[in-house]
Amino acid sequence: MELYIDSANLDHIKHAASLGILTGVTTNPSLLAKEDPAVDVRDRILEIHNIVGGHCSVEVVATETDAMIAEADEILSWFPQATIKIPMIPAGLAATHQLAGRNIPVNMTLIFSATQALAANNAGARYVSIFLGRLDDIANSGIQVVRDTREIWERQGLDSKILAASLRHPMHLLEAAKAGAHISTTPYQVIMQSLKHPLTDNGLEKFLADYHKMQAEIAELRSELA
Ligand code: E4P
Repeated sequence: MELYIDSANLDHIKHAASLGILTGVTTNPSLLAKEDPAVDVRDRILEIHNIVGGHCSVEVVATETDAMIAEADEILSWFPQATIKIPMIPAGLAATHQLAGRNIPVNMTLIFSATQALAANNAGARYVSIFLGRLDDIANSGIQVVRDTREIWERQGLDSKILAASLRHPMHLLEAAKAGAHISTTPYQVIMQSLKHPLTDNGLEKFLADYHKMQAEIAELRSELA
């Protein structure tokens, strides 16, 4: 499963990218709104794209098909490799269909059911973003939607990428991978949590303590012999 970071924070993106585990980044208007309003959105997006280098999803805020296309074209004028994030509404399906006809990658976002995922795939979306956490928040199983979608994809031979989004903790990451999501997009804190294990930290501490003890013993022996 590929790992994207779900963020617009440059420090977080830089650090996660430096670990060599990311193949992309997803942003959305809410994530951008958390950052310094003095920085122009275009400049921030371009910087994010330059840091990560791979997939970069940028979301439109228009809600009518023609306006979505115009916004997509503006984003593509910033950098032609952009993946356009379009909301899963009827106007978004029509926009996706048109953009896909021009071979522009679309990440259809705000998907909460396998039938929505199927419609997004059929409209030509290259990525279908299923929001696990927000489903769990309302006592629905987000992971079940990923499982259902993956089962449909297998049976029907569909090729758009299933992207597990709205992940809240490392368990979501684990479950998404087991359910067959092709990609997960994950907040920085969840990425960092998923890398931590107390036995790794304790193990390293013990290795280093033993190494330094050995060095001290060697130094003592040498000074006795000198
Ligand atoms: C996906 O691309 C979205 O940016 C994201 O995962 C939304 O997650 P949230 O529910 O944490 O806002």
